[in-house]
Amino acid sequence: MAMNPRLRKLTLTAHVTSSVGWLGAVAVFLVLAAVGLSSDDAQTVRGAYLAIEPTGWFVLVPLSFASLLTGLIQSLGTSWGLFRHYWVLFKLLINVVATALLLVHMQVVGHVADVAAEASLSSGDLFGMRVQLLADAAAALVVLLVAVALSVYKPRGLTRYGWRRQQGMRGPQPVAGGDQTAGLAAR
Ligand code: HEM
Repeated sequence: MAMNPRLRKLTLTAHVTSSVGWLGAVAVFLVLAAVGLSSDDAQTVRGAYLAIEPTGWFVLVPLSFASLLTGLIQSLGTSWGLFRHYWVLFKLLINVVATALLLVHMQVVGHVADVAAEASLSSGDLFGMRVQLLADAAAALVVLLVAVALSVYKPRGLTRYGWRRQQGMRGPQPVAGGDQTAGLAAR
């Protein structure tokens, strides 16, 4: 069902805000994980790991679900569709996998934060987990940057379903890619 232009702009605002906000929150998480791993000051290390857990539960997790929900609305409420263009499908995949990994990752975060709350962490304590927090955050940042680039460039490439839909419709059809006519059609 196509949204009217006003509603589309409103939902697009929500989608860009939640998605790019998620990316920004991952950058904060990355910095906290780096500080926690590298600082020599016990209070700074403790503060970093204590801040990481609420950042995850109250910012990252809600934004990841908000990005998914608003992305689904953008897809299904516009002529982009959900299964017609590879760039939309890739973003769906990125979002679902990244959200699932984030939820798994939050268990590690919780454990490190609990230990940090009880005792000062020396540089060797939970080293593997602390490196994992840093590495996962760096990987998430790269993957979300790819999602932003896909969104802005909207590379050509119709799925088989998208191709069939295009052939099956009459009149001038939206074409994915540089001219972005599919996206502009309902603006
Ligand atoms: C993975 C995290 C995501 C990021 C960082 C992201 C980012 C963005 C950005 C920045 C735009 C605006 C592009 C523009 O107007 O030029 C956009 C648009 C769009 N996104 Fe996402 N997105 C994400 C997830 C998703 C998901 C999961 C879906 C689909 C299920 C989706 C579907 C769309 C669609 C269809 C548009 C075009 C909307 C329109 O033209 O009205 N996005 N996204």
